[in-house]
Amino acid sequence: MQLDLFDTSNDLTQDNNKKNSEQGTIQHPLESEKDEILALRKELSEANYLYYVLSSPQMSDRDFDEKMHRLQELESRHPELRDNNSPTQKVGSDLSNKNGFIQIEHRRPMLSLANTYSEQEIRDWYERVCKDINYEPEIVCELKYDGLSISLWYEDGVLTHALTRGDGTKGDDVLNNVKTISSIPQTIPLSAGNTMRTFEIRGEILLPWKEFERLNKEREMNEEPLFANPRNAASGTLKLQDPKMVAQRGLDAYLYYLLADPMPAQTHYECLCKAKSMGLKVSDAIKVCRSIEEIMQFIAYWDTERKTLPVATDGIVLKVNDLRLQRQLGYTAKTPRWAIAYKFPAEKQLTLLKQITYQVGRTGVVTPVANLEPVQLSGTIVQRATLHNEDFIRQLGIQEGDKVWVEKGGEIIPKITGKEAGKRNEDEYNYQFISVCPECGAMLVRDPEQAAWCCPNEDHCPPQQKGKIEHFVARKAMNIDGLGEETIDLFFNKGLIKNIADLYDLKAEQILSLEGFQQKATQNILDSIEASKQVPWARVLFAIGIRYVGETTAKKLSRTFHSIEQLENATIEELTSVEDVGTQIAQSIKQYFANENNQDILRRLKKAGIQMEQTEAQSGQLSQVLQGNTIVISGTFSHHSRDEYKELIEQHGGKNTGSVSKNTSFILAGENMGPQKLEKAQKLGVKIISEDEFLNIINNV
Ligand code: IVH
Repeated sequence: MQLDLFDTSNDLTQDNNKKNSEQGTIQHPLESEKDEILALRKELSEANYLYYVLSSPQMSDRDFDEKMHRLQELESRHPELRDNNSPTQKVGSDLSNKNGFIQIEHRRPMLSLANTYSEQEIRDWYERVCKDINYEPEIVCELKYDGLSISLWYEDGVLTHALTRGDGTKGDDVLNNVKTISSIPQTIPLSAGNTMRTFEIRGEILLPWKEFERLNKEREMNEEPLFANPRNAASGTLKLQDPKMVAQRGLDAYLYYLLADPMPAQTHYECLCKAKSMGLKVSDAIKVCRSIEEIMQFIAYWDTERKTLPVATDGIVLKVNDLRLQRQLGYTAKTPRWAIAYKFPAEKQLTLLKQITYQVGRTGVVTPVANLEPVQLSGTIVQRATLHNEDFIRQLGIQEGDKVWVEKGGEIIPKITGKEAGKRNEDEYNYQFISVCPECGAMLVRDPEQAAWCCPNEDHCPPQQKGKIEHFVARKAMNIDGLGEETIDLFFNKGLIKNIADLYDLKAEQILSLEGFQQKATQNILDSIEASKQVPWARVLFAIGIRYVGETTAKKLSRTFHSIEQLENATIEELTSVEDVGTQIAQSIKQYFANENNQDILRRLKKAGIQMEQTEAQSGQLSQVLQGNTIVISGTFSHHSRDEYKELIEQHGGKNTGSVSKNTSFILAGENMGPQKLEKAQKLGVKIISEDEFLNIINNV
């Protein structure tokens, strides 16, 4: 059997047995199964939280489903241990108190689907249904879209609410974000025969593969954590506070479940056709099947064909077509009996781990990479896969020469999930992470925050030096054209540039002396370097590449610290009072300025004419009415977004901070103000000002 990275369910039982025999006590089987039930409930609840609330799962879908099935099996053997709070009895909740959306009760519970990876279990389900109703009913087969479920309410032809599944009973209303999705109509045209004006339709919000890849590239450049798959990216996007940012992400949607009173037809299929005719986006990959053979053919066809689709799918959903039969079959606590999902297995292959090599990134982090005997997986040849860090390798217990499992499932990035079982005794394991930098020979140091080994030689280690230049010239940073990775490599190797300040000393003759550089290309590069002197302070702050200061953090910092000097002189406390800036970022900023080499680069950049401070025009100062006021923003607003309020506070001379303290002048509170902030404000006697009151203050100057 394959050793799965995060699968600890078996370990739990083994641990219990070991503990019992060591202590010399004999435990009743019920005791250990009870322990296992409790442990699985805890583990699955935590996994649900990471998946639905934080959009950052740590457990693979497959492991989650296996553990859930194991828990179901154990609970059915022990009805006396029944608990309505068990993850088997309720759907995973995406509700979070922090995101400021209004929560609304679903008109009908938003359930999940029973699922299986086994074709036999699909046959069993079909047989059960046939037996229950005494004949072979029509089954609608659809693709199972791997996004996040949404419930859209149309009232009198107008989209009025868009609720996430939440805890199944109530969901977050993310209407303003959903309104930015072009495939979801905001109104249903009143055309002839269209009598259904008030209804609910449920479906899935998705981030197409292309958008997902683009977004992750952008995040990589900003040193923000990457999304593991499009589903997490879509759910992270939908929970953003700013609809303008959502609009830029290119979300899409497919709708698959209509609820209306009265229903417009007697079958699920006809209801979907009706929805489609009204301009709602329903997939074409739907078939009414009349036998188990037809169902199996549909599954087999889409198992391969789905790879050509622009969005992620993870299985097939089977639904009884006749609505009357659906009512007859009914529901369990969490799922309808009239539907089931067949989930596609992740493709995996066993292959040789030939060598572990090490890559040094621009911040010095050393990433181990698995070099594999090439293997075909989901239509592509895989020969390299990241091993993340030392802990990851040790958890898998792998080393060079092992046969390892490579998997490509919902995640497009192939991952190593284990080694071939039973090939080596644990005492023969002798993997050692490298101790010196493979690029410059410096002794590596372990970053305690990140489980990562780093090369500390940031000023002289070539990939770090080149990486910093690549980051500096990038579109979202200084936007210097004509300097791709290869050109930077060439200029660096020829000794033309060693750091970002050297770019501003480049001379035409130096570039022209290199092979392949004509007058025009050379002039383009120099013009683009010259133009970068107009790039505003916020982007310069991002471009200089302070560790952990991504694009958004740089923007936030630049709103409070209007020049490089102000930033340099800020205390840790002042830095951490900026929203989203924690001690790790604050310390990194301090370290950056403590480095003599960075100081030298900053001096040279300033001398070259780079914008190291906010100009009058950039600050867009409107008044000083809020001067001396430190203002906290909380809740959701109707007239402007939170970001716009931040900007308005600064444009009127105030300062925006993230947390309430005795120094807070007042709280600008929208609807659903965070309960913690409210409590703290009341305790400290901080004034709370409504959106309208605030607009009155700034508009009356
Ligand atoms: S029907 C009461 N149809 O899968 C049944 N769900 O794992 C309502 N999903 O919560 C759901 N594609 O978010 C249905 N064609 C499809 C689907 C689909 C994806 C999602 C949905 C559901 C989850 C269950």
